[in-house]
Amino acid sequence: MAMAFGGQGLSHQGHRPVLLRETIELLAAERGGLFVDCTVGLGGHSEAILQASSDAQVLGIDRDEEALGLARERLAQYGSRFRSVHADFRELTRVLATAEVGRVRGVLADLGVSSLQVDSPLRGFSFRHDAPLDMRMDVTSGETAAQLLGRLSEVDLARIIFEYGEERRARRIARWIVERRESGEQIQTTRDLASLVERAVGPDKKRRIHPATRTFQALRIAVNGELEDLDSFLAQAVDYLEPDGRLAVISFHSLEDRIVKRTLLKLSGRCQCPPRFPQCVCGAVSVVEILTKRPIAPTDEEIEDNPRARSAKLRAARKLSDEN
Ligand SMILES: C[S@@+](CC[C@H](N)C(=O)[O-])C[C@H]1O[C@@H](n2cnc3c(N)ncnc32)[C@H](O)[C@@H]1O
Repeated sequence: MAMAFGGQGLSHQGHRPVLLRETIELLAAERGGLFVDCTVGLGGHSEAILQASSDAQVLGIDRDEEALGLARERLAQYGSRFRSVHADFRELTRVLATAEVGRVRGVLADLGVSSLQVDSPLRGFSFRHDAPLDMRMDVTSGETAAQLLGRLSEVDLARIIFEYGEERRARRIARWIVERRESGEQIQTTRDLASLVERAVGPDKKRRIHPATRTFQALRIAVNGELEDLDSFLAQAVDYLEPDGRLAVISFHSLEDRIVKRTLLKLSGRCQCPPRFPQCVCGAVSVVEILTKRPIAPTDEEIEDNPRARSAKLRAARKLSDEN
């Protein structure tokens, strides 16, 4: 039975790993060996890797201790084939050195938030529950969303909301946030922010999404630095792959996918310098072969079954042998 946390009855039940079959195939998990799941979350992908071969082992990383607890509970039946580490995957080299891991058969990163985080009534990721505006994946470190809203300038707030949320009315929202701050009132809870944004921009005439959806997404990305050092993480992951080892990355945001696409192209040897540069300065060297010319998207059936999968994109690469 799944473990309950803090009396909220949270579990991995009901959580559906995205693009599961496609990911396991691209990782060639049936060959067994050691895999690193850099975003173990509720352990869905990790479990599928462990089930693909009785010889497979997984080292699971997550910066969310609550998720790791649930994953450990779920995967206890696999004994020492599953190990876990509470860490940020951008420190992959340090984590693997500490765990005394050499080269690995595969690395997986299923980016973004888990359903545990979004559905939690306490963590402040969603305006569906009134909660302190926290949004940190790792509640043991960093600034909360409320602290960020209290500190950033109007220009920076507008930039973040526009860039990370693709919100057209970002400047107006940023102005309302700063005016609220200047009136001496802090924005402390999810409902405070949701109602401020609603009043700043008015209802969405097409009523497709709540008017605060994009602002919440932008803040979450900023609080967790989700786009920072993604390229260096991917390079570290490729470094640790054995020849013919696989890297699979699932992203949920166009900015994230763009970084993954460009970094994999660079690691495949494709120069990323602007065309006007007389010679290459980006240092592209061919260390992988890209396995997904176009990103793999969920089928209509998967989206119907799991609407959260709708923006997912899966890209994968294979490490070339050292002689290449
Ligand atoms: C989409 S969920 C993964 C779900 C998982 N594949 C499953 O099947 O249950 C993403 C997870 O990655 C974690 N995460 C996001 N960024 C991270 C980072 N930089 N370092 C470590 N974990 C991270 C989040 O805390 C979250 O639990």
